[in-house]
Amino acid sequence: MARELFTYYNGKIVPDSAVNVHYSDSGMSFGHAVTDSARTFHLRPFKLREHITRFYQTMRAVRINPGMPPETMEQITLEVLAANKPLLEADEDVWITQTATGGRLKSAIGRWEFGTPTLIINLSRLPFASFAHLYQTGVHAVTPSTRHIPPQCLDPKIKHRNRLGMSLAEFEVKEVDPEAFALLLDIYGNLAENKGGNFFVVKDGVLSTPTTRNTLDGVSRATVLELAQQLGIPAREEDLQPYHAITADEAFFCTTSFCIMPATRFNGYVIGDGKPGPVVKCLQQAWGEMVGVDFVAQAAQRAAQATAST
Ligand SMILES: Cc1ncc(COP(=O)(O)O)c(C=O)c1O
Repeated sequence: MARELFTYYNGKIVPDSAVNVHYSDSGMSFGHAVTDSARTFHLRPFKLREHITRFYQTMRAVRINPGMPPETMEQITLEVLAANKPLLEADEDVWITQTATGGRLKSAIGRWEFGTPTLIINLSRLPFASFAHLYQTGVHAVTPSTRHIPPQCLDPKIKHRNRLGMSLAEFEVKEVDPEAFALLLDIYGNLAENKGGNFFVVKDGVLSTPTTRNTLDGVSRATVLELAQQLGIPAREEDLQPYHAITADEAFFCTTSFCIMPATRFNGYVIGDGKPGPVVKCLQQAWGEMVGVDFVAQAAQRAAQATAST
């Protein structure tokens, strides 16, 4: 059995099971909780600085002051990783997640009184077995009836833990296809994003992705745009509708954990020839070369090991 990992919890690195957030915490009571996650390649964090910068912007937007500068949080994050390295296998990679809440609420009517913010920095083993096969088949992107929260209500650039709408959307599409990925529409019917990933289409060799008006400014999305520029693949940020997914040659989701995941069906339509296409493969390869890990092969190996050990 995998050994228990260590987690930073309000000032100390403790066994993960020692984290005990109280029910009066504003994260529990009000969903006043924000987060960011980087991943490792060969147990080295990728774009940690970018993730921590976004985390600080998010915390500012939701009025949480972690009481330390970003450099200190980066240092603590690296200490958590170092404390856990002896518990991890060399070919394993992890998510490194920071979570902050407004802290415990004091009972008051008519005014809000928070305590010290709750801060957790933890590692999670990447669930390779749950997605390794999807790199080969591609996923089915399905639009649920639940819409993305409009930016007038909650700016999607804030990376928060209010995932009820996103979770309901995910439940909904999994009733249609157990392996579907929800691709939420905004209230105007434009394609937005998944609960944990941005979306791209490829048409006639050009990449297109929704703007950050209705999506998170994803670090992986930015990485795809950087790689596209290096590879000479034209890319646009623009409003897209279901029509663009239906008529695309290729499509994919991107996120920190699985990097680039082909989408080969959209609401039951086959996208392109129904197989992961050349642009997706080219971007996956370029990403793998950049980080020194063929993440598609790694996921397959880790999934096979997991099957063999059960
Ligand atoms: C709503 C949403 N969109 C997109 C992403 C992808 O962002 P990143 O590439 O920075 O992981 C995430 C990540 O969790 C997310 O929560």
